[in-house]
Amino acid sequence: MKKKGFLLSLGLTLSLALAGCSSDSASKPEDDAQGGKEKLEIFSWWTGAGEEDGLKALIKLFEEKHPDIPVENAAVAGGAGTNAKAVLASRMQGNDPPATFQVHGGAELNEGWVAAGKMEPLNDLYEQEGWMDKFPQSLIEMVSKDGKIYSVPVNIHRGNVLWYNKKIFADNGLEPPKTFEEFFQVADQLKAKGITPLALGDKEPWTATHLFETVLLGTLGADDYKKLWTGELSFDDPQVKQAVETFKKMLDYVNADHSSRNWQDASQLVAKGEAAMNVMGDWAKGYFVNDLKLKVNEDFGYVPTPNTDGLFMVITDTFGLPKGVKNPDDVKKFLAVLGSVEGQDAFNPLKGSIPARIDADVSKYDQYGKDTIEDFKTAELAPSLAHGSAAPEGFLTKVNQAVNIFVTQKDTKQFIDTLVSASAELK
Ligand code: GAL
Repeated sequence: MKKKGFLLSLGLTLSLALAGCSSDSASKPEDDAQGGKEKLEIFSWWTGAGEEDGLKALIKLFEEKHPDIPVENAAVAGGAGTNAKAVLASRMQGNDPPATFQVHGGAELNEGWVAAGKMEPLNDLYEQEGWMDKFPQSLIEMVSKDGKIYSVPVNIHRGNVLWYNKKIFADNGLEPPKTFEEFFQVADQLKAKGITPLALGDKEPWTATHLFETVLLGTLGADDYKKLWTGELSFDDPQVKQAVETFKKMLDYVNADHSSRNWQDASQLVAKGEAAMNVMGDWAKGYFVNDLKLKVNEDFGYVPTPNTDGLFMVITDTFGLPKGVKNPDDVKKFLAVLGSVEGQDAFNPLKGSIPARIDADVSKYDQYGKDTIEDFKTAELAPSLAHGSAAPEGFLTKVNQAVNIFVTQKDTKQFIDTLVSASAELK
């Protein structure tokens, strides 16, 4: 059921049987007939502002270590994989996988590409590199199915972060909100002064889903939030209704042009002092610091989104080895660099995320990174829906569509009915 939803959601017409069969395409030699080296194609959605700096640093490190392996950065623009996921799906369907591709740990990997028989296990690489105790067990579980490990996490992003403009808060004598009640008090005061309280850029609908899931987590708490994805708690539970009502109220405080902005454009409103707050994953920090040259804790501050102190909406970007690639040994060499301390510390300080490894060099991270590394150790983890961990792609696609409609129509009943019917495929 899950597999079916996943494939259908990507608009694939390929039958499941066919998807399973593709896995046995033979590996070809890594040097082609002309003696040229097969390119190591790295597929992601990290292009442009706030996204690509970490990847470029990682590729540079790899090229220094393996100058003989040509790399192709095959990134497809669009936040949260808006376009890349569809391109990837059609390539996988056509048995033309990139050498390695960005995939979120959790359902997107395990119920998606692994369940469809498209990925090689990497337990041997983990053993060879001595990684079994270098990544947190919780993360290894997110990239494993039936005891086999299928990808290597390059990072840990936190999704439940509320970013705020320091100057606006100081000028108005405001404290960043910790609860929903405080959020609405602060928002009312800002609105009264003509300042947009909350920036949103849902031109790509996932950003509104991202905001909504933080409200769900803050309303339900980690335990009940997690029950939504196992079918133990229904989407017509009164707590979900309460979360939808809170989300709806929040939408009264966003910029009027939200539907024409992407996440960077929305973050920019906070950076420029045109809006006070923004809820976004910590790739926004990479954007603030690298692209907009803002200073952590001077120009912008950060707190967990309302009611989520001690909770960590976890997002992990990982890379694996698709079946049937021509250069599996080169891919493993790349994954070895990506999973090394050096690789993680080249990538993450620029990306805004924290290292997935537990033994990275903390001194390489700014105060936000240091705080988040500490928080991760003690926080209760909750999987992100908007970023592929909590539920299969088919369900996420339906939620993104429903959230997008809700943002304009604000019809709570219709929204919940859609969530309930979509959730049939979670059971
Ligand atoms: C997430 C991804 C992040 C970041 C973000 C915005 O899904 O995990 O690394 O790229 O999308 O595009």
